[in-house]
Amino acid sequence: MRTYHVTTFGCQMNEHDSERMKGMLESLGYSEAPAREDADVILFNTCSIRESADSRLVGHLGEAKRLKAEDPERVVGIGGCWAQSLKDEVFERFPFVDVAFGPGQVPKLAEFLTSDSITAQGFFEFEGFTGHLPARREREFQAWVQISVGCNCRCSYCIVPSTRGREVSRPAPELVEEVRRLADDGVREITLLGQNVNSYGRDLPPGQKTSFSELLGTLDGVDGVDRIRYTSPHPKDMREDVIRAHAELASVCEHIHLPLQSGSSRILKRMRRTYNRERYLDRVAMIREHLPDCAITTDIIVGFPGEGDADFEETLEVVDEVGYDSAFTFVFSPRRGTEAAGLGEQVPHAAKRERMERLVELVQRRATERAQRFVGRELEVLVEGPSRTDPSRLRGRSRHNKTVNFDGAAVPGELVQVRVGSATSTTLAGEERLLARVA
Ligand code: SAH
Ligand code: SF4
Ligand code: F3S
Repeated sequence: MRTYHVTTFGCQMNEHDSERMKGMLESLGYSEAPAREDADVILFNTCSIRESADSRLVGHLGEAKRLKAEDPERVVGIGGCWAQSLKDEVFERFPFVDVAFGPGQVPKLAEFLTSDSITAQGFFEFEGFTGHLPARREREFQAWVQISVGCNCRCSYCIVPSTRGREVSRPAPELVEEVRRLADDGVREITLLGQNVNSYGRDLPPGQKTSFSELLGTLDGVDGVDRIRYTSPHPKDMREDVIRAHAELASVCEHIHLPLQSGSSRILKRMRRTYNRERYLDRVAMIREHLPDCAITTDIIVGFPGEGDADFEETLEVVDEVGYDSAFTFVFSPRRGTEAAGLGEQVPHAAKRERMERLVELVQRRATERAQRFVGRELEVLVEGPSRTDPSRLRGRSRHNKTVNFDGAAVPGELVQVRVGSATSTTLAGEERLLARVA
């Protein structure tokens, strides 16, 4: 039997796409190899969001080159956003690559493998969803669901609109059908994926239009799905109906990831985020009003071109005021072809580093403080496996998306009640309430 190996970089959308690549390969009769050197088909699903993503990949490609030289029959394929951003340049820079394809061209990989083509081929049109392909899920009880692809925003720092194309939504009935099938297959938690989930459905033809909150309502009605998550919403499109959906629908989790990027309205304007600090804080106030206990997490970029000390102080103020449950923090990285890469006033490296340290310190302090509200409470935890630090304990996630390490006897995929004894900025610790589970 022929074998494959996939290495995935980047965001949840890429994790989703890799599961579909694997599903597609298995339907062609391939099986997964335990390691890259054992595989007949070596694949990379790439990301280009920051420079660090690019440089990490280049190291891996070196190994693929060596393996290809050892056995020229091997196929080396590169998919994803980095491949899309380079297009045919991939073959000039890495001549040992056999096939390259963008995120909208995953099915072409199957075509390539089943043809008797001996020349390298690239596929970079935006054509279809990967959501239609069969999936090989990482965990049987959790699934990604692609509700839309692409992004119509023009954030000046971001490469995604050029790698994933214009936004296209999948019709709601198709998504309901997919979620029903997942539930029948044992999935208890789904995560809806899109670059801007709140604008879901706006591009659908008249008759088929569905808003994101309506979609949440319909999916909540699917039997067997205990938890619905989604990522990412855009603050400009976050409206009360979606926040209400969290309050009213049993399966929609108490967690909202609301990317801030900067707390300075001046910098937000240069980023072309189309909201300002007031509008963002107004969204947060609306969340707190309907869902006082909701976890709020975010993404922040430091060192955007033109960010002065006063702008950065404003970011710190917002972080302090909101009190995020956690935050992903990134140093601005100029990306080819983006507007921000060409802006003047690039922030010196030392200032970026110093700001990052101060930001991370504040994020962690506020996250630790926020996490104390869980101590003494009983939380519903979806068990994922053994604890990473102590295999005699279990690990799972609360509805707030907090990692919980606990003593207990549950198995992966089970929902249990855990009494929380202590909390740090990133994890909660506790013990399973056995009686609660039996009841
Ligand atoms: N569509 C999603 C996710 C985009 S990528 C959204 O808008 O929220 C995830 C995060 O990477 C972004 O939120 C941003 O914080 C960060 N990011 C994107 N481009 C970047 C760049 N050029 N430099 C640094 N961080 C960047
Ligand atoms: Fe990039 Fe902005 Fe679109 Fe997110 S919303 S993918 S940051 S352009
Ligand atoms: Fe995701 Fe990276 Fe593409 S973050 S959308 S895989 S550039």
